[in-house]
Amino acid sequence: MFSSFSRRHFAKLAGLAALGLTASPTEAAESKAKQGKDRHAPAPFPKDFVWGTATSSYQIEGAVKEDGRGPSIWDTFSHTPGKIGDGTNGDRANEHYHRYKEDVRLIKDLGVKAYRFSIAWPRVFPEGTGKPNPKGLDFYNRLLDELLANGIEPYATLYHWDLPQALQDKVGGWQSSETSKAFAEYSGYVAERLSDRVKYFFTLNEAGRFLNFGYGWGIDAPGLKLPTAELNQARHHTVLGHGLAVQAIRASARKGTKVGIAENIAACVPAFATPEHIRATEMATRELNAGFLGVILEGKYTDGFLAYSGKDAPKFTADELKIIGSKNDFVGLNIYAPQFYIAASDKKPGWSVLPFPASFPHMNSEWLRIGPEVIYWAPRLAAKVWNIENIFITENGTSSEDKLTADGKVNDLDRISFLRNYLLQLQRATAEGVPVRGYFLWSLMDNFEWIFGFEKRFGVYHVDFETQARVPKLSAAFYRDVVAKNAIGV
Ligand code: NOJ
Repeated sequence: MFSSFSRRHFAKLAGLAALGLTASPTEAAESKAKQGKDRHAPAPFPKDFVWGTATSSYQIEGAVKEDGRGPSIWDTFSHTPGKIGDGTNGDRANEHYHRYKEDVRLIKDLGVKAYRFSIAWPRVFPEGTGKPNPKGLDFYNRLLDELLANGIEPYATLYHWDLPQALQDKVGGWQSSETSKAFAEYSGYVAERLSDRVKYFFTLNEAGRFLNFGYGWGIDAPGLKLPTAELNQARHHTVLGHGLAVQAIRASARKGTKVGIAENIAACVPAFATPEHIRATEMATRELNAGFLGVILEGKYTDGFLAYSGKDAPKFTADELKIIGSKNDFVGLNIYAPQFYIAASDKKPGWSVLPFPASFPHMNSEWLRIGPEVIYWAPRLAAKVWNIENIFITENGTSSEDKLTADGKVNDLDRISFLRNYLLQLQRATAEGVPVRGYFLWSLMDNFEWIFGFEKRFGVYHVDFETQARVPKLSAAFYRDVVAKNAIGV
């Protein structure tokens, strides 16, 4: 009864609207917006908000054997049969090593003033340590000069997963603190030579991912499945590597150089926004990030983490904790999907993780669940829990099943919808004073998406990997509009 009633009404209203006969809510909203009285739109982003885009070395550079670059664990891994979904590798990728000038133009065309890229450690130290390879660093000298000549501020990541294979072979990669030390030496070496032009350095990118996936579950390079105690120890070596690198950068870079990390925070969202659920989500944020961000920002492992790890807890010294807790100038958060919805609980520890229903929506990548509010809550809660003053969203974006039309267009409406919703939530955050200083869209262009090869496309520029032609998708125009307005046009 009710449904037939509402269907009839709906049909009638739709008919009237089609004839243009309703006093539509749209008109009311438009006139309100014209008068600037839309109280639902948050204030624009802050005036000095940094708009950027991001990539990483192995995913775009190609030229893996040129100018003395040594092999990385991703070269080895991607050439191991069965590891990459579409059987590809990063040998050629986007040929960015040779096409970087064209790519800088693409960045400029978006209207953004910042670019986050990564430096390939095996280009600079082909063996991981020892003799540097000046030709490797030269590539980044060329890139930096091109960026600056085009008014684009470089944000350099020192480790985006391409560990020199030699370190994996000699000491077991992150299983050894020798790698933490080697990482610090390499970071200091680079900072000394590039900090005349790079003011912002990120140490590790997504330690939480590359460690668990690469050393715990065998999914990423180097493909190991370590027992828990060894995995926890390797994790400890990554955060130690971060702390040592922060110190090395501070010791060798020009004054004013800023340093921090880019982490895929275990992003917690309250089931819904009541004070109890929000408080529970703060506690969950702290505990679920204790092994990476937590120890870096607090200089200690939480009691909860140590109790939970029990006999498998990492071994560490007080000195190491001090190094790991070296002060960061900013924290980078890579935010894609809500990872945990949290509810308050009467039982200890006072919060619980809610299971995802099978029908929870996701984007073209199955892991990429859609929950725009995560980009509001994760920085807000992180800032509160760890008292962070400067946050960058170092990555956000989505893959999409992008198809070139016959007339050479990519109408990636799902990406636009995703970005619109996420950016509106981010705008809400900055309007409320959450200290987010900038946003880097992942990614500038389609690239080698790790175990998915070239099948998952994250770019706002479409890339034909045969011809290397780059074509702006509709989302590139959308993003340019957001950047120009410094706000989401609602
Ligand atoms: C995070 C990683 O840092 C980046 O390399 C990857 O391509 C994106 N997530 C998308 O999966």
